[in-house]
Amino acid sequence: MSDAPILVPGTGSAGPGLTSREIRLAVRPQGEPGPENFELVGTTAPAPGPGQVLVRNTWMSVDPYMRGRMDDRESYIPPFRVGAALDGGAVGEVVASEAPSVPVGATVSHFLGWREYAVLDAAAATVVDTAVAPAEAYLGVLGIPGLTAYVALTDTAPVRPGDVVFVSAAAGAVGSLAGQFARRLGAARVIGSAGGPEKAKRLVEEFGYDAGLDYRADAIGAQLAAAAPDGIDVYLDNVGTDHLEAALAALHVGGRVALVGAISVYNATAPVPGPTNLMLALTKRLSLRGMLVTDHLDRFAEYLPLAAGWLADGTLRTATTVREGIEAAPGAFLEMLRGGNVGKMLVRLADEAR
Ligand SMILES: NC(=O)c1ccc[n+]([C@@H]2O[C@H](COP(=O)([O-])OP(=O)(O)OC[C@H]3O[C@@H](n4cnc5c(N)ncnc54)[C@H](OP(=O)(O)O)[C@@H]3O)[C@@H](O)[C@H]2O)c1
Repeated sequence: MSDAPILVPGTGSAGPGLTSREIRLAVRPQGEPGPENFELVGTTAPAPGPGQVLVRNTWMSVDPYMRGRMDDRESYIPPFRVGAALDGGAVGEVVASEAPSVPVGATVSHFLGWREYAVLDAAAATVVDTAVAPAEAYLGVLGIPGLTAYVALTDTAPVRPGDVVFVSAAAGAVGSLAGQFARRLGAARVIGSAGGPEKAKRLVEEFGYDAGLDYRADAIGAQLAAAAPDGIDVYLDNVGTDHLEAALAALHVGGRVALVGAISVYNATAPVPGPTNLMLALTKRLSLRGMLVTDHLDRFAEYLPLAAGWLADGTLRTATTVREGIEAAPGAFLEMLRGGNVGKMLVRLADEAR
């Protein structure tokens, strides 16, 4: 079956306005989601009211946390509503403005993705500088994934000079940057894991890892023990379950873990048992700390100039995987959950005007 949803006529606001299309949640998934969970709907974008802007979205982000929002359960962010448009990170160009602070022509990042046109309060839009990097970079290296990797390794589980650092989902948006940040922070050895031999190779050849482990090829615990025979100091966990268990076994006394994500359980339909060796956290006096990047948005002020500098001098490698058009957005999301991306998975919704 194609991952592209079928367009159904919308009930969007009538009257003069721009024709738009948006992706709505059709039905909540049980376990792994599929194209049947999404609906592509034609709408009409309303004119902006006082203090608002109309944005023509050029790029949108698909992210793992969106899987959690498809379920009807309380979390740190409200669930998506059945029959309503999804939302999430996007960038676009202001095409009509009723807010002097955000003029027509500005490129903005905001949180009304999954649609071609968005009307939002100017206060909810951040004007971004496309002279520093292309607009889509603000959804990746200069956006939430970049900040997540940076905060995880400078604050949640700080890397110290000489450390051995392990990162899971290392070929993805957060992971492809995390290895490079660990190195900048003085790590002596940086080990990443990803699915498949091609990705494992790219970890070393493109993203600066010393070793790339293919977790599909063999048990991750044995591979990590072989790659870090003297143990590890820091683990950035994007995956949970078997990867966390492997890291607990490999960590030195006093080791640090940043619990950033647990993508291996996002489709689980029943509670997943924790690592069987959690007792090691006690005997090794480990620190395991959860982090939510939304608690650290103030650190963009410190992170953005640093990352922009590394992009400008060519020392930070980034990658994107791009799918085209709003109709491809559900498929891009499903593909990302299955590991079909290298670097940041993005959907291009329209060409930039300039
Ligand atoms: N705490 C926060 O504030 C915060 C913020 C952003 C992201 N995150 C978390 O960080 C992690 C990475 O996010 P991202 O945006 O950078 O996504 P991403 O890594 O670009 O994409 C997700 C990747 O997860 C991997 N994956 C899927 N199922 C897996 C499994 N069963 N075992 C191991 N790997 C699996 C796939 O790569 P492979 O081909 O390698 O399997 C896939 O490419 C996610 O867990 C996300 O929820 C947390």
